[in-house]
Amino acid sequence: MTRHFLRDDDLTAAEQAEVLDLAVELKKDRFANKALAGPQTVAVIFDKSSTRTRVSFAVGIADLGGSPLIISTASSQLGGKETPSDTARVLERQVAAIVWRTYAQSGLEQMAEGTRVPVVNALSDDFHPCQLLADLLTIREHKGELAGLTLAFFGDGRSNMAHSYVLAGVTAGMHVRVVSPASYAPRADIVEAARARAAETGGSLTLLTEVADAASGADVVVTDTWVSMGKEEEKATRLRDLGGYKVTTSVMAQARTDAIFIHCLPADRGYEVDTEVIDGPQSVVWDEAENRLHAQKALLVWLLNKQEAKA
Ligand code: CP
Ligand code: NVA
Repeated sequence: MTRHFLRDDDLTAAEQAEVLDLAVELKKDRFANKALAGPQTVAVIFDKSSTRTRVSFAVGIADLGGSPLIISTASSQLGGKETPSDTARVLERQVAAIVWRTYAQSGLEQMAEGTRVPVVNALSDDFHPCQLLADLLTIREHKGELAGLTLAFFGDGRSNMAHSYVLAGVTAGMHVRVVSPASYAPRADIVEAARARAAETGGSLTLLTEVADAASGADVVVTDTWVSMGKEEEKATRLRDLGGYKVTTSVMAQARTDAIFIHCLPADRGYEVDTEVIDGPQSVVWDEAENRLHAQKALLVWLLNKQEAKA
């Protein structure tokens, strides 16, 4: 069966470690691996805006000797005009992989169902698993082993980023805390999946609603925008509900003295994070943004290797 990467727990703990190890190797010599020689084409489709994802996939595919085909949904037949599965049946005969940033997770599932080439989630309303590979790579670079570290996520616990930290974090054996208002807690089925995975890896998931002491002992402090793409109409409510969950210098002061701050970007300085934190000495957000490139290249090479092993 073709392997897809639609959510973080599509990789087992061992597989996640393999991808991260490969990312470390590829980062050492950017142009050494030509897994997409030909050049083979990878379709990268966007229903939503992007800077980092678009650039890192385009550059990474080119680094691997391939050719990126960037498609905007607005100028394609996807998005109501053609089903994801029909689009995939056309693409799979011509491209090596399909990368898609979209809204509903179900669209990705339909695209992947029965499709012969790997389908990769480049962000959906529910998950952002490619970002997490980059984030775990960044944490590993700054902290060494992932297993046993404590990561505290502040803010919208029902966001794609929070869900991905929950699943990918426990897969890596980390202790993940999500600090959010109760009505913004992670979705129950994702919590259940994370707790099952944590039981295998020694990680854990803790859901908190009180900010006081929530960062205590954390190795990694993280947040994300309070207004994700697609939630713009809820902006006023969200700013009110999440206003108390900002990552401030006093939150950082509760964490370990060597704690790092990460954020997938783009950031709304002054809202989910204070400027002093994101632009301060504990912030590693630029390493994190660069690591999108290395982590996604590793993911593509890993998925293509699985295709070859099957053939
Ligand atoms: N972090 C991230 O996915 O950024 P873009 O929206 O710019 O791709
Ligand atoms: N949660 C954010 C992440 C952006 C990379 C969003 O979905 O807009």
